[in-house]
Amino acid sequence: MVVYTASLIISLFLLCSPALGGQQRQLCLKCHPSHYAGRGSCVACHRGNPNAERMNVAHYRMIAGRFAAFTLGDVPVVKEGNRLMDHYACRRCHVSGRRGNRLATPLDTLIDEKTPEEIAEAIRVPAQGMPNFRFAEKSIVAVVNAIFAGGKNAGVTQGNRPLLVHFDAEPKGQENVFTRKCGTCHRALTEKLGLLGSGDIGPNLSGLLSSHYPKTFKAGEAWTEDRLKRWLENPRKVRPQAQMLPVQLKAGEFRELVDLLLVKHGDGK
Ligand code: HEC
Ligand code: HEC
Ligand code: HEC
Ligand code: HEC
Repeated sequence: MVVYTASLIISLFLLCSPALGGQQRQLCLKCHPSHYAGRGSCVACHRGNPNAERMNVAHYRMIAGRFAAFTLGDVPVVKEGNRLMDHYACRRCHVSGRRGNRLATPLDTLIDEKTPEEIAEAIRVPAQGMPNFRFAEKSIVAVVNAIFAGGKNAGVTQGNRPLLVHFDAEPKGQENVFTRKCGTCHRALTEKLGLLGSGDIGPNLSGLLSSHYPKTFKAGEAWTEDRLKRWLENPRKVRPQAQMLPVQLKAGEFRELVDLLLVKHGDGK
């Protein structure tokens, strides 16, 4: 009874508190001190349910403190996350901050659907087709903050979702040129046939012929059809230390390969 009365008084106080005048109720303040008060409500930065008195309900889908840094702007953690996303070229496969290929789930909409902890877990324990980057925990926190920052800047809402390219995640048989000629050493997500190849000796070639693949042809040069042709003819002419041996392709096979590696859906297209 005492507890009930006390909480009732606090609730009434919160309802009438001039500091919250006109704003929604924030029962979060029942259990927490206020912070960043001038920068919006608790739920604007942390989500959760401001009308709940029970912790588990109040914390439903909450953004915990370590994942909330992105709400403060372009802080060091977010910068580090963006650096990692560029370095590991997540946008070969995902849209983030409206930029990137749509070969896998757009990360911009993911933030509406998942909690930061779920997103962190998807990076720690990757699904089929998603590379395992073996990030340290600190890097995962940085990347998740960058994903939220990207989605926030993209202004994605439930009514404004980009199209998702669905693909069959089953590796394809021998019928395509990638699986036959590249797949023992490489993998690639493709718009046409989904995930191809099973090798990890060479880099993952998803989005190779798009602007989101690292510019690794020669220092700072992006991959093009022409450069790929030169590479396949003799990798050592491009990089003297290359381990990959020349791959002979018939003209028709090269066309088929280019067609598989091209990305038509990216950057909101
Ligand atoms: C009934 C009390 C209660 C209410 C109501 C409540 N919290 Fe909490 N909250 C706690 C306690 C206790 C902890 C620490 C234990 C834990 O994290 O589980 C905590 C932890 C947190 C953390 C830190 C978690 C982390 O790992 O960084 C955040 C952020 C937070 N609460 C935000 C909120 C927000 C936002 C609301 C309102 C939508 C809210 N809380 C409502 C009791 C409450
Ligand atoms: C402008 C965004 C913002 C607002 C508004 C905000 N928080 Fe936070 N909160 C953060 C950030 C960022 C952190 C991570 C630690 C830090 O930077 O202070 C955090 C951390 C926390 C923590 C974890 C404890 C800690 O200090 O690490 C709790 C609990 C919490 N917030 C509760 C709340 C509650 C309750 C409200 C509403 C009164 C609120 N926050 C409003 C951004 C915000
Ligand atoms: C080679 C392509 C590829 C690259 C590169 C890639 N991913 Fe993924 N990712 C996938 C696939 C495939 C999945 C699982 C299927 C899906 O969600 O579309 C996935 C799933 C995810 C998920 C879970 C999505 C969900 O629906 O729950 C997250 C989060 C994610 N990736 C983040 C990242 C981040 C961060 C990076 C860069 C550090 C990255 N990915 C790089 C292909 C990729
Ligand atoms: C026997 C293994 C093997 C096969 C088969 C193979 N590659 Fe490679 N590939 C590699 C290795 C290893 C590298 C790493 C770079 C090096 O050679 O040092 C590489 C690198 C590459 C690169 C450079 C990517 C980058 O970011 O640096 C491209 C492009 C490439 N391969 C395309 C292909 C294509 C297309 C096929 C099929 C037509 C193919 N490879 C077949 C092993 C192979």
